[in-house]
Amino acid sequence: MRKPVIAGNWKMYKTLSQAVDTALALKPLVANANHCDVVIAPVFTAIKTVADRLEGSNIRVAGQDCSTETEEGAHTGEVMASMLRDVGARHVIVGHSERRQFYSETDETVNKKTHAGIKSGLTVIMCVGETLDQREQGSAESVVSQQLSGGLSGLTASDLDRIIVAYEPVWAIGTGRTATPEQAQEMHAFIRRVFAERHSAAAAEALRILYGGSVKPDNIEGLMKQADIDGALVGGASLKAESFAEIVNYRR
Ligand code: PGA
Repeated sequence: MRKPVIAGNWKMYKTLSQAVDTALALKPLVANANHCDVVIAPVFTAIKTVADRLEGSNIRVAGQDCSTETEEGAHTGEVMASMLRDVGARHVIVGHSERRQFYSETDETVNKKTHAGIKSGLTVIMCVGETLDQREQGSAESVVSQQLSGGLSGLTASDLDRIIVAYEPVWAIGTGRTATPEQAQEMHAFIRRVFAERHSAAAAEALRILYGGSVKPDNIEGLMKQADIDGALVGGASLKAESFAEIVNYRR
């Protein structure tokens, strides 16, 4: 049985005090959520304080990105995965489509970040997903397959235990246009098949695949009913404790 993961990606929102307030408001609302792992990803500057304030709770804190570098040095503006771990993060998101689109990330950089996260003891949430153009041209599966092989290249079988894949069709992110549960399921099943071919049937069976893109309290239930959807990566609807808690506590 795969334990679902519901992760909130706060993107570049919230001052430190707003992040702490939201985290503390969330804490009692999800305190009984033993059915899934609950993760929130605040901006770098809020990670330490939020992680400290959530200590002893069932909410884990994630970084939204990390450096490709694994040794300290002259890399202005970068934050190493081990530094995230040092301030209390347990997960890191890599390869989000906003990073790929606006910060020129390639499968190669995503792969380096994935290795860096694993090496530092973090669980890596690696994002994949096609654009609308790619879907309309019929190349969604080949794009996602390429992102998977590039991003996960060189990982060992034991590294795979600490990988979570998030399928986020770019056309569904922040647009209010969610993939239907059937569209999402189709791609999730494809990702699991690719994983089985490239790695092993056991690794594919254990892999948690999250859906992301306009997940809301009113569509989570339908998504979670699908056999290969093991959770969600939530942007907009994770910014308010109440709506994120409703998603975490989806009807089962
Ligand atoms: P959204 O964002 O839920 O606001 O569509 C999802 C994401 O970017 O991870």
